[in-house]
Amino acid sequence: MKKVLFVLALGGLMISCGGKEKKEEKKEGFEMNRTKTEKKAETTETHEGVPVDMDNKGIGPIKSLEFDDAINEGLAAKGEQTFNTICIACHALDKRMIGPEMAGIYERRSPEWVMNMILNPDGMLKEDPIAKALLKEYNNAIMLNQNLSEEDVRAVAEYLRKI
Ligand code: HEC
Repeated sequence: MKKVLFVLALGGLMISCGGKEKKEEKKEGFEMNRTKTEKKAETTETHEGVPVDMDNKGIGPIKSLEFDDAINEGLAAKGEQTFNTICIACHALDKRMIGPEMAGIYERRSPEWVMNMILNPDGMLKEDPIAKALLKEYNNAIMLNQNLSEEDVRAVAEYLRKI
């Protein structure tokens, strides 16, 4: 009986040793992965210290938006009016104010992201990595929901192509 117990104990010891070796292998693998992601982060493009990710479509009702090649001038004119009434309080076209300048917006954000930021700023500032970084960069100034319709925001999005 004693002998059986001893063999069992020895077996247990061997199993636990084997387990430990496996754990160490895993750790090495993890460290290799970590080095890889660190390298990737170094090459990521930023604007004012905020990440640029054209694949990010943001969080909100707009899932897909492709602009026609030609700018729709009627729509853009309508968007310009809205911009000059509401957005101008915090945004300039070509310089930083309470919020970021609008020039070059589609070089740093996807059209879907831009529309979702205007339609759903609360959700974006809470959940979206770019919007969260912007909030920090702009000293926690909150971009407020202007309660515009999707149609109005689409017009503003068209206007922003022109600036
Ligand atoms: C009360 C001030 C305020 C108003 C009004 C406002 N915004 Fe903003 N907006 C901000 C701030 C501040 C940010 C940066 C994120 C933050 O800190 O909340 C921002 C961010 C943005 C961004 C992202 C810019 C970038 O570089 O990625 C876009 C696009 C934008 N706003 C468009 C608009 C449009 C269009 C309107 C009008 C319909 C508008 N905003 C109205 C304050 C405002």
